[in-house]
Amino acid sequence: MRHYSIALIPGDGIGVDVIREGKKVLDTLCELDGGISIEYKHFDWSCEYYLKHGKMMPDDGLDILKDFDSIYLGAVGYPGVPDHVSLWGLLLPIRRQFQQYINIRPVKLLRGIQSPLANRGVDDLNFTVIRENNEGEYSSIGGRMYEGTDMDMAIQNSVFTRYGTERVLKYAFDLANQGTEKFLTAATKSNGINHTMPFWDEYVRKINMDYPEVKTDIVHIDALSSFFVTKPDVFDVVVASNLFGDILTDLGAAIVGGMGIAPSANINPEKKFPSMFEPVHGSAPDIAGKGIANPTAAIWCASMMLDHFGESNLSAIMMDSLQDVLEEGIVTPDLGGKATTEEFGEEVCKKMRSKF
Ligand code: NAD
Ligand code: IPM
Ligand code: MN
Repeated sequence: MRHYSIALIPGDGIGVDVIREGKKVLDTLCELDGGISIEYKHFDWSCEYYLKHGKMMPDDGLDILKDFDSIYLGAVGYPGVPDHVSLWGLLLPIRRQFQQYINIRPVKLLRGIQSPLANRGVDDLNFTVIRENNEGEYSSIGGRMYEGTDMDMAIQNSVFTRYGTERVLKYAFDLANQGTEKFLTAATKSNGINHTMPFWDEYVRKINMDYPEVKTDIVHIDALSSFFVTKPDVFDVVVASNLFGDILTDLGAAIVGGMGIAPSANINPEKKFPSMFEPVHGSAPDIAGKGIANPTAAIWCASMMLDHFGESNLSAIMMDSLQDVLEEGIVTPDLGGKATTEEFGEEVCKKMRSKF
């Protein structure tokens, strides 16, 4: 029996609904396979927890998580707790403490989903964004000054280190090098941001020297955003700093069908710490509690987690079943259908059963 331990943090809003379905799909697959067992531990760390305890997780929360094989997270953040408090109280410390410095965010049109881009199909939309996940623009360095006066101001510093920049670029170049297209696009803004971005570009060129077969394009983030819409077919691997990668991947989600689709894997490549799998989307307060959130992203995350465990056969069965259901048109309202979150999850389970 192959055994894995997963820390479940459904979090807030629709995070709870989509993780429930993701877990159901995982459980069904394990039962069908018979050779794998998953032990879960559920954590109710969330904004609701914050309102009761004054913190998003216990003081030893990170210590509790460190020995799990992986973390499966829904979404964090809900009206009533300021977003920077909830996110810096749970999600961001997990990414940092566990050195999950690679954020893999596929931009891939699934079978059965229509892209909002005219005349674009599965062959045009299939690339991977590698987002730097530990430093960059997400630094808590800075502060507020002269509050309440006419001079009121805020400063936020970005941190780009050689260590942090080289390791994410190496990962991205490696990924590009392993593929057939061998094409890497690096997001920059070195025309306007005159310290960190020229530094980033310099390391892109430097690491590129170790990967002579990889063709590289350094593109300003504003133009790159437009190219996601006008020529998404050219991309293979896109590497971006923390903030640019964040923004690009909501756009990436939009061109492959919407926020309900896009998965993300926060990886510690050395496997010294657990990696974390979570949808790109948030807690969606506008549809929370209605039972209509699309669990596709969460299910895709579960399949990425299986891949991470080396269970690529099971991962493929899950993705195949998911796409079969989408192709049959059984979809949630964000994709124009009537299925509830739960019905969609159940359909994926049914489809998997038919494959054993
Ligand atoms: P959001 O992703 O929650 O929602 C944006 C839009 O997409 C909404 O209209 C929502 O209904 C829709 N949407 C998102 N996921 C969907 C799904 N699975 N199915 C159908 N529709 C879906 O982004 P937001 O509104 O900016 O953020 C809401 C809260 O979530 C904030 O507190 C934010 O900080 C937090 N957030 C958390 C994470 C995370 O924990 N990983 C990620 C993003 C945002
Ligand atoms: C994401 C989210 C987070 C991020 C927020 C909630 C801090 O938007 O995972 O894409 O910016 O990393
Ligand atoms: Mn985001």
